[in-house]
Amino acid sequence: MNLKSKVLVIATTIFMISCTENKNSTEGIKYVEEPHSYAQPNEAVITHLNLDIDVSFDKEIINGTASYDITNNNEATEIILDTKNLVIEKVQEDGKDTEFSLGSYDESLGQPLKINITKDTKKITVFYQTTDKTEAVQWLKPQQTLDKTQPFLFTQGQAILTRTWIPIQDSPQIRITYDATVRVPKALMAVMSAENPKVKSEDGAYQFKMAQKIPPYLMALAVGDIAYKAVSDRTGIYAENSMVDAVHDEFSEMEKMMVAAEALYGKYAWDQFDVIVLPPSFPFGGMENPRLTFATPTLIAGDKSLTSVVAHELAHSWSGNLVTNATWDDFWLNEGFTVYFENRIMEALYGKERADMLGLIARQDLDEEVEGFKDAPENTHLKLDLKGRNPDDGMTSIAYDKGFMFLKTLENIAGRKNFDVFLKNYFQSHAFSTMTTDKFIKYLDQNLLNKHNLSFNTDEWVYNPGVPSNAFEIKSDKFENVSKTLKTIIETNKADASVVKDWTTQEWVYFIRNFPEDITPAQMAVIDNAFDLTNSTNSHKAMVWYEQAIIHNYKGNNVDTKIEEFLIRVGRRWYVSTLYKAFADSGKTEEGLAIYKKARQNYHSVTVNTIDKLLNNKE
Ligand code: BES
Ligand code: ZN
Repeated sequence: MNLKSKVLVIATTIFMISCTENKNSTEGIKYVEEPHSYAQPNEAVITHLNLDIDVSFDKEIINGTASYDITNNNEATEIILDTKNLVIEKVQEDGKDTEFSLGSYDESLGQPLKINITKDTKKITVFYQTTDKTEAVQWLKPQQTLDKTQPFLFTQGQAILTRTWIPIQDSPQIRITYDATVRVPKALMAVMSAENPKVKSEDGAYQFKMAQKIPPYLMALAVGDIAYKAVSDRTGIYAENSMVDAVHDEFSEMEKMMVAAEALYGKYAWDQFDVIVLPPSFPFGGMENPRLTFATPTLIAGDKSLTSVVAHELAHSWSGNLVTNATWDDFWLNEGFTVYFENRIMEALYGKERADMLGLIARQDLDEEVEGFKDAPENTHLKLDLKGRNPDDGMTSIAYDKGFMFLKTLENIAGRKNFDVFLKNYFQSHAFSTMTTDKFIKYLDQNLLNKHNLSFNTDEWVYNPGVPSNAFEIKSDKFENVSKTLKTIIETNKADASVVKDWTTQEWVYFIRNFPEDITPAQMAVIDNAFDLTNSTNSHKAMVWYEQAIIHNYKGNNVDTKIEEFLIRVGRRWYVSTLYKAFADSGKTEEGLAIYKKARQNYHSVTVNTIDKLLNNKE
C-alpha cells in the first residue's frame, strides 16, 4: 500500500468512525425528559430483565436477584436505576462485585441506584430485598382473604411503585421483556403479568416469561391459594377457590369482548387474556397488567352488571399497553382512549342504550371534577404538568372522562367510519412504542383532520381548562325516564317498586346520584323502604347510596353499620375515597376518621396515601 492510499484508508476510517459515533449518539436520543424517574435511558438503558426471587410470608420480604441486559447508548460510565425503600446488597457484572452508589432519597421518587459500567458491559445483576416500607406489595393475612386459610400477596406497579419491589428504570418510556423464577410456599400459586401456570407446582417454584416488550409499571405478581378456570381457549379467570365459579359466570363474556375489541382496533397482541380477582383490599376496580388483569371482587355482582371494568382493562391491551403514554403528564392518552374504547366494546356487546348511559355517567363525573377543581383549573388540562408532584395527582376523572369526551367529539365530527380507520392505524403504526401528547396531535392533524379537511379546536381541548363548548352531547332516554321517576317520588312521597324492576345498575346509579340537594332523611326512608338500597349486594349501587346517606344524614335500616362494614372490608380507592369525602364535605370528618382508624390496616398503600391526605390523617 503506498502512502497516498494509506492516508486515504486512515482518513476513511476516521470518517467512518466519526459517522458511527454521530449516528450512535443521535440514535440514542429518543427518550423525552421524564420528571418521575432517575433513569437516563439516552445514556444507558435496560432491555431485558431476569428476575429470580423468593417470597417469604413469614418475614414479609421478597428477596433475590434482578439481572438486566443493557444497551450503552452513549459510552456511559454508569447506568441509573430507580429504587425506593429496597435493601441493595451488592451488584455484580460477570459474577464479580462492581461499584454502585445510592443517591439521596426523595419522598415520592425514592433513590437513584448508580452502577458503574463500561462500554462493553452487557449484563449486570442486582442482589436485593424488599422492606416493610415497600409500597407496591400488600401482604394479606388469611383473615383478609375470602377463604381465610392462606395468606395472599399482590403488587401494584402503576404509576411509580414498581421501583419499590424491583430495582428498575421505572419510566413508562422504557420497554423490556422479562423472565422470572418465583419461589413461594407450596400451598400457594404464583401468577404474573406473563405466561402463567394453570395449576399449582409440586415444589412452589414457578417460571414466567413475558415475550413482548412492556413498560415497567406493568410488572405484576400475585401469590395465593388460587385456581384457574378457562372461559375460552384464550381467556379465563383466576380466583380463590370458593369464588372460582361465581367469577367464571360473571365474566363469561370475556371472549365476546375480545372479538369485539379485535374487530375495532386489530389483533390482540398479548396472546392470552385472563383476569385474577383479588381480595377486597385491591385498590382499583381493575389494573391492566398484560395477559393478566388484576381486579377487585366488588365487580362480582351476580348479574354481569359491572363488567364494563373488564372491557376497560381489555381495552388497555391497545391503549396503554401497546401504545403507552411517554410520561405521566400524557396519562390521558392511556385512560381517555381506554374509556372511549371501553364504551365501544360495551356498545358492541349490549347496544347503544347501555353505552350512552355509561357515557352520560362519565360526562357527569367530568362536570363534577371540573367544578371541584375550580380553584386549580390547570388540573383540568388534558396535558398535565406533574413535575415536582406525585403522578397520582393526575389520576383524576379529567384524564378519563375529558379524554373520552374529546375522542367522542372527534368521532362525531369525523364520522365513525373515518375515525375507526384512523384509530386502527394509530394503534398499528405505534405498536410497542410510546406516545407524547405533542406527537399524537401531529399524527391527528396529518391522518384525520387534514386528510378529511376538518377543523377542530384540539389545542383548546388539550391545553386549556374545563370542557370546550363543542363537546358532543350524549343523550339517554333511559336516564330521562329515571329523572321523571325520581321527580314523581319526591313530589308524591310514594315509591313504586314496579316502575324500577327492570332498571340496570347504571339507571340506579343515575337515580341515586341525582337526588335533590335538599332531600330529607324521611324522603330517603321512603325510597329505601321501597327499594331496599341499604341492603343492596351490588357494590356500586350500595356505594352511591351510602354516599347520599352520609351527606343527607340518613340513618334508617342500620345504614351506618353497613357503611362501616363496607369501609373496613373494601379497599377500592375510588369507592372508599368517595365515602370518606362525603364525611369530610358534610362536616363529619371525625366520624370518618373513627372508621378509618379501624379500616386503615386493611388498605393497600395507594389507598392509605389518598385517604391520609383526604382526612388530613397524621400517622
Ligand atoms: N390503570 C388504571 C388504574 C390505575 C390508574 C392505577 C393510575 C394506578 C394509577 C385502570 O385501568 C383503571 O382505570 N381502573 C379503574 C377502572 C375504571 C375506570 C373502569 C378503576 O380502578 O376504577
Ligand atoms: Zn384504565
